[in-house]
Amino acid sequence: MLPLQQFFSDGLLAGGTGGLRWHWHAAQSLKRWQGTLVQIEYFLNIFKPGSSHLLLVGGSAGWMMPRQWLLQFERIDAYDIDPLAQYLFNWRHGRHLKQQGVQVRHHRQDALASLPQLLSTHPTACVWFDNVLGQHRYRLRDIDRTEKELNALKQQLHGRSWGSLHDWLSGPRQSPQPLALQAIQALAADAQDPVFAQKLLQQIGAHDVWSDHLTGHVFAANTPTHYIPWAFTPEHGHWLQAGWVQA
Ligand SMILES: C[S@@+](CC[C@H](N)C(=O)[O-])C[C@H]1O[C@@H](n2cnc3c(N)ncnc32)[C@H](O)[C@@H]1O
Repeated sequence: MLPLQQFFSDGLLAGGTGGLRWHWHAAQSLKRWQGTLVQIEYFLNIFKPGSSHLLLVGGSAGWMMPRQWLLQFERIDAYDIDPLAQYLFNWRHGRHLKQQGVQVRHHRQDALASLPQLLSTHPTACVWFDNVLGQHRYRLRDIDRTEKELNALKQQLHGRSWGSLHDWLSGPRQSPQPLALQAIQALAADAQDPVFAQKLLQQIGAHDVWSDHLTGHVFAANTPTHYIPWAFTPEHGHWLQAGWVQA
């Protein structure tokens, strides 16, 4: 794709992971997502990030990001492929972050393709993947390569404090009721256990075919994780997985 075509394509869809379609949907859905946002904030507040410098990947406009959590950093380098991300992030969070002295720099860049270079550019930053890894398979459209790249992250990030919130499973739900489910605390290894998966699918009223976002091995097996329910639409649910790895 030519650079200009890529620019517009990323602004519209970001390979199915974001763009205008995401911003529109998120802006309409924030009320329904409130319970999920509370659980994400609760999860993030458990950990001391280990650095005052954050390398944020896929932050988009930060529709699902707790501002209080962002305010603890002195500097944020935000990487996103979506050309709209920086403007909408600044619109939502920029003024508050600036008032509190948080320096935010935006970069329009594929942070997964250039991760080794970003890690050496920001040697002391902690890293947060903000609901981006679960869509990697839809951008790449290559299952083997997606699994290889996602599974290799923990080695690439060895020695860093880092974390990720990402889609684990998603699909249609039987009763499009508001979700009143609590996050479930379990190990990353549980994502591989069919009995555990079945239990969570039942709880969320799953039916028909659900997608596996290939994120089951992002974290080492013994990483403590939270599994967080998300009514992406009233009829379509997700189980998100969130984990943090201390350096
Ligand atoms: C579901 S959205 C994340 C939403 C965001 N966490 C929020 O609260 O609004 C995924 C984001 O990741 C970005 N993205 C996808 N692949 C990326 C990559 N390889 N490098 C950087 N950003 C990427 C997309 O452009 C999109 O903004």
